[in-house]
Amino acid sequence: MALYPTYPLETERLRLRPFTRGDVDAVFAYRQREDVARFLFDSPLSREECALAVQQRIAQTSLSEEGDKIVLGVELADTGELIGEVSLIWRSVEHQQGEVGWILHPSFHGQGYGTEAASAMLDLAFRQADLHRVIARCAAENAPSFHLMERLGMRREAHFREHAISKGAWDEEFIYAILQREWVGCTGPSEATSSIFN
Ligand SMILES: CC(C)(COP(=O)(O)OP(=O)(O)OC[C@H]1O[C@@H](n2cnc3c(N)ncnc32)[C@H](O)[C@@H]1OP(=O)(O)O)[C@@H](O)C(=O)NCCC(=O)NCCS
Repeated sequence: MALYPTYPLETERLRLRPFTRGDVDAVFAYRQREDVARFLFDSPLSREECALAVQQRIAQTSLSEEGDKIVLGVELADTGELIGEVSLIWRSVEHQQGEVGWILHPSFHGQGYGTEAASAMLDLAFRQADLHRVIARCAAENAPSFHLMERLGMRREAHFREHAISKGAWDEEFIYAILQREWVGCTGPSEATSSIFN
């Protein structure tokens, strides 16, 4: 089923909303960094590359066919500051499969914002888009990312050994997944965050 969400998506401390042209500097602030790019497919981005990425993201707000991607800016509800981004990709229409992802500015790590934003994306995937299964993937060395997946209740389903060459070296990849009944059965939209964090 197609999904045209109403924005912003609000959580206890965050607003998830479509990107705008005014976001280029905030995106550059985290995407230019080596520590942020370390486990991403991309190298650190220039300001021009960030401007192009933001331009692309402005249109990525709905799912109408397979391969479509929603990418939302993560904003602190209190200050309106943009601290990162989260995504949901419609991987298979026939099999109701999706994939989520996340990037936060390092100044905002270690405070549960990633888990809170990702919870809202799983709510979107399971409660609004009616997906059956959602995966997330990361480099096996990216402990902060797979810890986040585990906080969400996702299960490690695969460890691909040397499945690709990334930035000149063999990459090891983990795939995590969660089913709709597992997410909906144990959380509610507003309970999602508190049950994870309590
Ligand atoms: C992946 C990424 C988003 C994880 O960030 P993170 O800060 O570890 O994750 P969260 O925002 O969910 O924060 C969880 C941490 O905050 C702590 N925390 C502090 N206050 C908290 C609160 N009020 N609520 C919840 N957790 C809180 C948790 O204990 C946890 O810390 P721990 O990992 O030391 O146990 C971040 O490392 C990142 O952006 N990396 C660069 C980009 C990247 O690699 N993306 C993924 C590609 S696959």
